[in-house]
Amino acid sequence: MKALVLAGGSGTRLRPFSYSMPKQLIPIANTPVLVHVLRNISDLGVTEVGVIVGTRGPEIEAVLGDGSRYGLRLTYIPQDAPRGLAHTVAIARDFLGDDDFVMYLGDNMLPDGIGGIAEEFTARRPAAQVVVYKVPDPRSFGVAELGAEGEVLRLVEKPQQPRSDMALIGVYFFTRAIHEAVDAIAPSARGELEITDAVQWLVSSGAEVRASTYDGYWKDTGRVEDVLECNTHLLDGLHRRIDGDVDPSSVLVGQVVVEAGARVLRSRIEGPAIIGTGTIVQDSRVGPYTSMGRDCLVTDSWLEGSIALDEASVTGVHGLRDSLIGRAASVGTTGHGAEHHCLVVGDHTRVEVAA
Ligand code: G1P
Repeated sequence: MKALVLAGGSGTRLRPFSYSMPKQLIPIANTPVLVHVLRNISDLGVTEVGVIVGTRGPEIEAVLGDGSRYGLRLTYIPQDAPRGLAHTVAIARDFLGDDDFVMYLGDNMLPDGIGGIAEEFTARRPAAQVVVYKVPDPRSFGVAELGAEGEVLRLVEKPQQPRSDMALIGVYFFTRAIHEAVDAIAPSARGELEITDAVQWLVSSGAEVRASTYDGYWKDTGRVEDVLECNTHLLDGLHRRIDGDVDPSSVLVGQVVVEAGARVLRSRIEGPAIIGTGTIVQDSRVGPYTSMGRDCLVTDSWLEGSIALDEASVTGVHGLRDSLIGRAASVGTTGHGAEHHCLVVGDHTRVEVAA
């Protein structure tokens, strides 16, 4: 079996972060989403992975390299524009050959793995095996209607009136039967070749299409809230590891990771929390549920439930919560006694200050 990982999407819902980095590289528990994805694929015993990339291909390649560090061989396949998930299968045709493959959307987190579903697929080898998850509002997803035995009766992409609450999540298993389906469909109303339509084409032509209901944790990391929630979930599984320097007047409570080269001075870190390499935390309170990237600086501040990307700084701010702070961004105060706020806010940024 091969894998096809989709990392071409532009991530408009993750602006402003996606202006300066591909959304698939947003770190969750200090590891890029795409690396979490590749680890799940490697756990299946798959080694050949095609990675579909858009304009941000070079940045993705700089992080993932040839894949050898994850036990994989990566082949980068450029997509000229977002022409749909089924279009990526068409442009990966030479790479895929006639092999079975798992298609995995590069911004979907399934930290409990996909081993069970892969086994179901290999045991039975239906033309397609999709993965579904019950969601409260399925209108922004592909939606599947299922029969009693897990067979798929009908699939619709983003229906206004969904006939089921089972959403397609970002993992699909295919045999080579999908190629004929991809060639047969036409672009949707949004102008894209939808994988949902290709799978529906298989259903209509009488091929066996099955669905597995995912019973682990799943999150599409498309929005800032999703990234923060997923970070919280992953940090719940953190194990204490102190490789950096912690001075005697600091207190570390619970599952705390202080990476090598990080320094904690006169501070309290409440787990779960990660302090990345090169980061300095001084006279501050950090955590719980906080990930700090590399080379950040936190001075005289309290923050919790947040993510700070590399080189971010927070100074003098007491009570920062549920925040995502971008690379080299700085959050500070207007000085003692000042009664005004001063903001330099980038495009599509959100600021919420206490009333
Ligand atoms: C895509 C698929 C949709 C699926 C979703 C999962 O939607 O088209 O069927 O439910 O991924 O995240 P998109 O993210 O392209 O809107």
